[in-house]
Amino acid sequence: MGLSILKDTSPTTLASFREELAVRQTSQVILLFSMGSQFDHLIVQHLAKLGIYCLVADPARIKATDVKKIAPAGIIVSGGPASVHNEPPPFDARIFDLGIPTLGICLGFQMWAKHAGSKVTPAKTREFGVHPMKILKADPLFAGFPKTTRVLQSHGDHITASKKLVILGKTDNALAAARYKHLWGVQYHPETTESEHGARLFENFCVKICGIAPFPATSVAELKIQELRTQISEKNVLIALSGGSDSSVVAYLLKHAAKGTKTKIRGVYIRGIDRPDDESFVKKYFGTQKWLDVKIVDATDAFLKVLKGKTNMRDKRLAMRGVYTEVLEKEIRAFKASFIAQGTLYTDLRESGHGHKTGARIAEIKVHHNTGITFSVPELAPLSDCVKDSARDIGLELGVPETLLFRHPFPGPGLVVRIEGEVNSETLKIARAVDGIYIDELRASKLYETVWQAGATLTRSEHTVTKGDDAGMGRVVALWAVWSVNGFTARVAQLPYDFLERVSRRITNEVREVGAVVYRISDKPPATIEWG
Ligand code: XMP
Repeated sequence: MGLSILKDTSPTTLASFREELAVRQTSQVILLFSMGSQFDHLIVQHLAKLGIYCLVADPARIKATDVKKIAPAGIIVSGGPASVHNEPPPFDARIFDLGIPTLGICLGFQMWAKHAGSKVTPAKTREFGVHPMKILKADPLFAGFPKTTRVLQSHGDHITASKKLVILGKTDNALAAARYKHLWGVQYHPETTESEHGARLFENFCVKICGIAPFPATSVAELKIQELRTQISEKNVLIALSGGSDSSVVAYLLKHAAKGTKTKIRGVYIRGIDRPDDESFVKKYFGTQKWLDVKIVDATDAFLKVLKGKTNMRDKRLAMRGVYTEVLEKEIRAFKASFIAQGTLYTDLRESGHGHKTGARIAEIKVHHNTGITFSVPELAPLSDCVKDSARDIGLELGVPETLLFRHPFPGPGLVVRIEGEVNSETLKIARAVDGIYIDELRASKLYETVWQAGATLTRSEHTVTKGDDAGMGRVVALWAVWSVNGFTARVAQLPYDFLERVSRRITNEVREVGAVVYRISDKPPATIEWG
């Protein structure tokens, strides 16, 4: 359940590994070498859905001799930010010679291709985004696939075909899938939702190629409740509530874990950089419950004080995290809490440069507000191995109200990351007004449920305006909306043009400070979902 990583094969480690096999009633495991990819945990989740035991291994410490002791049925080597020619990732390449079926994904593919004598060089045309891939040869890896399939790519290097490689798939620009003996490789990311038939690819690899018999998965919610109950052991828990889905799911997990015990739960909602309706959601759904009490803390002044004069997004994120930590620390003391719970997702950890801790480099995309904090009491983050959709699945199992569960995600740092330049009471007022109009209109047009997340960013750009007979300057607001499943990747949502026009008219008419409205049309990758 947790994020423990295989770092050695000492007798103690091997004993607990064998115990885990016994619990899962299997003798088969897939070893996943995490090379630092943003998406590596999605691979773990694909295998978990198939009921396959996946052990994450540290490529810097697990050598070929260790792999022999574990004797996995198959190996997966993930993607990562390194490059085989100018930043060779830490990995014992003799693992590729063990004869164990291996699937290399993106960087993982480039690593074995280089080891097998192929050239890997910076590509003239770098590929980011969704491309069609033609399947050129029948292979068990692509059993059941149509001739052409859409795949998500995100790579700057490419592999030159060599005589050894059997080319299985190609995009317009590059070799996309190949095989050499027991080594399979895909240059795209089958673990992301944008790649079609990703689940089938993992099933083909594990079942058809590695010969693993899947084991039915158990209720994740029930396992998490049991784990929490043991951890909490009748003590008090403070939880940071935001009115969004993740913290709500954690609250419900705590509710079940505390049932019939002496544990008291307090939810803290921090006011200051939020949208107008977040607080009302918390009050409506949690304010009248018997199993927790809710405390609203107004930290507006504290936020504005630390944000004063800051214009760089990372500085603003760190300043926000400082106040968030201080408020929670104070409340921990006031409530005499023994634990602090947060709705941190794996996505938050990974983007902040945490997650599966291996010797491979992990890029820090942005510092999420709930990561890297050392509280004075232990932290409970039961969703830290989940992404958005799997956390929502747990919420559904627990009966979390669907209006809460399916609210668009809203980032912990709130409007701070949707305001370019200084965050002050004036820019917050504009950002709230603009967000309010956009979300209202999405709901009124029944478009809210059709997109995964939408937001409005107050940019630093100014536009010349002519209102009435007068002239002046007004800020540019960028609207955006995405389709996604888990937030790791996203596609621009194609909102109707007449809808966008209507929202733009309302914003420029109703919010005096805004001069023009634009719509962002980039996918993730390369752009992230939030502006900052
Ligand atoms: P990005 O912008 O990194 O966001 O593509 C992915 C998802 O995470 C949300 N997000 C955050 N959530 N704390 C959070 O709890 C944060 O600091 C944070 N930053 C981004 C974002 O809204 C999107 O849903």
